[in-house]
Amino acid sequence: MAVSEDVRRLAEPDSMETSELDAWYMDDSEDDQRSPHRKTPNEAASLEHLKKLGVLYWRLKGEQDPKLAAIREARGYSYKDVITVSPEKLPNYEQKIKSFYEEHMHTDEEIRFVLEGSGYFDVRDFDERWIRIDCREGDMIVLPEGIYHRFTLDSNNYIKAMRLFVGEPVWTPLNRPIDDHDSRKKYVATFQASEAFHETPGSISSASPIAAH
Ligand SMILES: [Fe+2]
Repeated sequence: MAVSEDVRRLAEPDSMETSELDAWYMDDSEDDQRSPHRKTPNEAASLEHLKKLGVLYWRLKGEQDPKLAAIREARGYSYKDVITVSPEKLPNYEQKIKSFYEEHMHTDEEIRFVLEGSGYFDVRDFDERWIRIDCREGDMIVLPEGIYHRFTLDSNNYIKAMRLFVGEPVWTPLNRPIDDHDSRKKYVATFQASEAFHETPGSISSASPIAAH
């Protein structure tokens, strides 16, 4: 069934003007992965920049927010479940959160809506730097297919999140390096190559790995 214009409008990701997103470039310290890893002074990453990387973001007012239903309808997110990550709820907690923190990608979007608690999604910028996205209650985030990323809880050690998916879910992480995978190539062609075009319109053939081959 076609999605109505009203639903489509309601499902629009937050814009720069309305966003309450907090994201920053990470420092290089070897501290616990759960600490914020902000630089001094802080170097913020804008929502506009995250959009160029293919990351979408909404701040919702709980599960009853009509935007949630609209996003699910507009984007075809038929599947949903709820996952709780905490030392009490997850066996082998310390080991598990280390595995979430391995750099990886998926063959589909990763979609999370934080119901309680908080955590960090880290995504790779075009220049390989890590951008840390602070996700807390009410934040909904979509990471595109093929983006290199990782997840960690913060020092509160607790998150309860809704996981959404188009059809039957596939959660398998594919650890980096996996540059030859179709999902990765698609990501590079869609986002990284267009970014190269954006930054250096005169040198697309040398700047884009897709155009170079
Ligand atoms: Fe993931």
